[in-house]
Amino acid sequence: MHQGFTVWFTGMSGAGKSTVSTLLAQRLCAAGAKVELLDGDIVRTHLSKGLGYSREDRDENIRRIGFVCELLSRNGVIAIAAAISPYREVRRSVRARIPNFVEVYMECPMDVLIERDAKGLYKKALAGEIDHFTGISDPYESPEAAELIIHSSVETPEQSADRVWHTLKSLGLIAYA
Ligand code: ADX
Repeated sequence: MHQGFTVWFTGMSGAGKSTVSTLLAQRLCAAGAKVELLDGDIVRTHLSKGLGYSREDRDENIRRIGFVCELLSRNGVIAIAAAISPYREVRRSVRARIPNFVEVYMECPMDVLIERDAKGLYKKALAGEIDHFTGISDPYESPEAAELIIHSSVETPEQSADRVWHTLKSLGLIAYA
């Protein structure tokens, strides 16, 4: 059994948020937990459809994801958010509303992100074809007190998911083996 809580993955595009959060969600589901994953890319096709990448729109996107996480957590569900969420202030305000909030910072050096470029977006952003691209032409404010920092360039997604799992255990949020 578990209580409701929120695991919030923040970090730049391509840092591994979706991959690691999916592994974590699968592992929690397999253990019998009630889990919902809110991934920025997917949320933006539904709940946040029409929002762009200005600071206002990103903050609105984060407030919406945070609101859903709050409702889920309050009802005993494990909510997992995976969104760049580049601005510290809105992350702080979401944290303030959710009693058990676990922030996971997916850190990855820019040269590795550019090298990986799974979606081809860094190439376009560097060529000036995408405005306000996080880390290239838009800011990313890294967390100052995340519960966990993952350096995704030096560990596998499985190792990262394992570290999140152990963090949840050490915080007393899950009791699974
Ligand atoms: S957030 O800033 O509002 O938290 P979110 O995580 O929902 O962002 O969406 C980021 C995804 O949108 C990226 O992974 C990428 O696929 C896509 N994207 C499109 N334009 C941009 C941009 N200008 N900056 C960052 N990501 C972008």
